Amino acid sequence: MIHTRVIVVKNPEEMGVIAADHFEAMIQTKPACVIGLATGSTPLPLYRELAKREKEGKIDFSRVRSANLDEYKGLAPDHEQSYRKFMQDNLFDHISIKPENTIVPDGLATDVQAMCEAYEAQIEAWGGVDLQLLGIGHDGHIGFNEPDDHFPAMTHEVKLTEMTIDANKRFFDSIDDVPKSAFTMGIGTIMAAKKIVMVVTGADKKEILKKTFWGPVDPQVPASILQFHPNVVLICDEAAYPF
Ligand code: PGA
Repeated sequence: MIHTRVIVVKNPEEMGVIAADHFEAMIQTKPACVIGLATGSTPLPLYRELAKREKEGKIDFSRVRSANLDEYKGLAPDHEQSYRKFMQDNLFDHISIKPENTIVPDGLATDVQAMCEAYEAQIEAWGGVDLQLLGIGHDGHIGFNEPDDHFPAMTHEVKLTEMTIDANKRFFDSIDDVPKSAFTMGIGTIMAAKKIVMVVTGADKKEILKKTFWGPVDPQVPASILQFHPNVVLICDEAAYPF
């Protein structure tokens, strides 16, 4: 039984517009809000739309704080494929958000536990995430929370599945260059967000989307836990909508 609000849009561009409406409403009503951000191809139309709206004077990012979901282990912030670099290139460098108000897990952390605890502590010090953006992986991952026998609570290190490594090889010279591990917010970190917007586009996501929201809640489909979150808006395009 699905409690999620589902908005079906025509295509990725319309997804970007509708998702941006949710961010605009949040930022206008809470200018120093905390937004949780995601990488991947799916959010790109949204990020373009947000930058455009700030240029048009509709949104002001100067007081907004942001926390990203995840980062590859072993990649420096300026590495071409790091998620920090992705965020700089695709959003942060085009909006007025202050660099010190953006956090991404440190891919080079040597004391992993201390880094993960500090990440959680920073989000908590900011008052928690007001609006969390999520994509979904073909195996049902959110952030890099891969299928497991339990739902991990906090920011932690994960070993990536073959499916994820394969999906992400398109960004690297070869599959051997794809990091095998990552740092990610936990499912508990994600579920603590006050509101969640999940964006899903493309026919290749149809099957996992059906399992996630219309199947049993199961840590083997990590995103299925979202059925228990009271404030999720799923924005998917016609190609991804399972019905
Ligand atoms: P994608 O990635 O948007 O590039 O499909 C989604 C994800 O893996 O979470």
